[in-house]
Amino acid sequence: MEIISTPAAMQRRSDEIRRAGKTLALVPTMGFLHEGHLSLMREGRRRADFVATSIFVNPTQFGPNEDFGRYPRSFDRDCDLMRTVPVDIVFAPEASAMYEPGAETWVEATEITTGLCGAHRPGHFRGVTTVVAKLFNVAKPHLALFGEKDFQQLRAIQRMVRDLNFDLEIVPMPIVRESDGLAMSSRNAYLSADERRRALALSRALAAAHEAFGAGERDPRALVRTACGVLRAGGGIELEYVEAVDSETLARIETVERPVVLAIAVRIGKTRLIDNAVFAPRPVLN
Ligand code: PAJ
Repeated sequence: MEIISTPAAMQRRSDEIRRAGKTLALVPTMGFLHEGHLSLMREGRRRADFVATSIFVNPTQFGPNEDFGRYPRSFDRDCDLMRTVPVDIVFAPEASAMYEPGAETWVEATEITTGLCGAHRPGHFRGVTTVVAKLFNVAKPHLALFGEKDFQQLRAIQRMVRDLNFDLEIVPMPIVRESDGLAMSSRNAYLSADERRRALALSRALAAAHEAFGAGERDPRALVRTACGVLRAGGGIELEYVEAVDSETLARIETVERPVVLAIAVRIGKTRLIDNAVFAPRPVLN
């Protein structure tokens, strides 16, 4: 496994791969890897000749009062996990290598980032789309894989790729969960045993709404009410938002006619957790 730490060296390596007529898949991460990340790398392995993973805790996507300083890091363990995939190239730059002093150019998807997490984390998605655009220019991948766990992030990146003509394919990947339903996240490491138990309410809330949807409920507000009921019942959970929006545009809807994403963000103690599920009405056959 090669470890590369500067953008220029990564660009040279990608050029070599492309000159040899081979394909490259990129999995951008912030490290502290878990099965969710590894599922993206394995799919990249299946689809391309080479797999690169970036490990970079991107300072520009954290707000001033967020967890940048304490975000968990475990580079050696991450390397052991990546060798099991196996990943070919790890791109792990220092922040000073990614952001030159005086950097002042940003990439921002506007409408799609106004609601949901965007409304609660000002500047977050601007930091995400900027660093992902940079990673695309540095690694020059043929495809890049992103998890549906961060649903709004996935949609913002797809919008950026379309709007700015990035010449690569975005591959969305399903949410990987623990056996008890908790969506895997590097931030789960912050949870105490009691908080982790409370966190199961997120997947249970999504399951309850899914059941209502299966029984024919098509009012987004009713789906949200069902989910909120489950989240409130457990106690110890502060709701940031619970919304059912169009799964493509993330716009508010009156009734579910196309796939809808039910998205949840909560705080349990000091930890912010997100989860979501997409419900698709069956197409009417005629
Ligand atoms: P990070 O939170 O490390 O996530 C890296 C990738 O793994 C993202 O595409 C995320 O959606 C995916 N992922 C995380 N948990 C997952 C799970 N349980 N199941 C499936 N996929 C999962 O997202 C980021 O980093 C950053 O914002 C980044 C895109 C790297 C830009 O800095």
